[in-house]
Amino acid sequence: MVLREFSLDGKVVIVTGAGRGLGRVIALTMAEAGADIVCAGRTPASLEAIAREVQELGRTAQVVLTDVTRADQVEAMVQTALDTFGQIDVLVNNAGLLIAKPIVPLPDLNSGRLSRFGSVNEAITEEEWRSVVDTNLLGPFLCCQAVGPHMLERRSGKVVNVISVAAGKGYPSIVSYGATKAALANFTRSLALEWAPYNININAIGPANFPTRMNAPIHQEGRALEQTLSRIPLGRLGDLRHVGLLAVYLACEASSYMTGQSMYLDGGVLA
Ligand SMILES: NC(=O)c1ccc[n+]([C@@H]2O[C@H](COP(=O)([O-])OP(=O)(O)OC[C@H]3O[C@@H](n4cnc5c(N)ncnc54)[C@H](OP(=O)(O)O)[C@@H]3O)[C@@H](O)[C@H]2O)c1
Repeated sequence: MVLREFSLDGKVVIVTGAGRGLGRVIALTMAEAGADIVCAGRTPASLEAIAREVQELGRTAQVVLTDVTRADQVEAMVQTALDTFGQIDVLVNNAGLLIAKPIVPLPDLNSGRLSRFGSVNEAITEEEWRSVVDTNLLGPFLCCQAVGPHMLERRSGKVVNVISVAAGKGYPSIVSYGATKAALANFTRSLALEWAPYNININAIGPANFPTRMNAPIHQEGRALEQTLSRIPLGRLGDLRHVGLLAVYLACEASSYMTGQSMYLDGGVLA
């Protein structure tokens, strides 16, 4: 039996970065729970594929090509969602970018000094730094700004921000990434207070070690995987579906008294 409060029947959910990885699984799990999905991202082929998977689950999917760093495209995403479905119940800010480079090249480098996200020992450029900030922080801001008037007017809505274990602890060579995710955790708390009087819940999911393209270098078979697993108290990689299930919880009636929280799915890393 599925409890009524966990259902997303009749809800409309926007997922950014829906074409692969965690975004794809979040979109599919939300659809399984009953939601219609706006699949947003930059790669048409992968978005069309996920839209077909949503439709096979008996739900409606709308693909919207969206670069979350572009205000005009984000506004068009929200307008298309409203034109298609007439309402937006949930926004999932999932799109993210990780660039693994030190702030300056590290002299006399030994292998333990950089983290293992495919790091190269050359300085991250200003342009790369800005692209990480724009994707991970400006993007969620633009999406909230575009969807906000609709949710505020309806006195109803849920926002789920995808942060990272890197919001809660430092990692060498992904300073830009960790800084943006920690900022997004605070964005979550602060906007939760700003919009609480309007019955809008804003929470965050902080994953770690789910095998996707973003962290493929640390999940390759052999030594890299062994090292990764040795740092995870539960001793295994995450199952992507668990992120989808937590997203459903944060999107449904059952979590209505929770706002401003960051929930970590990290196998015990932060503990
Ligand atoms: N996997 C993990 O263990 C883990 C851990 C901590 C946090 N996260 C977070 O989880 C989220 C999903 O990451 P993932 O692991 O699924 O990585 P991924 O496979 O690299 O997926 C990243 C997604 O973001 C989209 N994206 C990137 N820049 C975008 C932009 N400017 N506009 C629109 N979409 C954009 C990509 O789509 P296109 O390139 O096709 O546009 C892709 O769908 C990210 O926020 C990431 O920081 C993941």
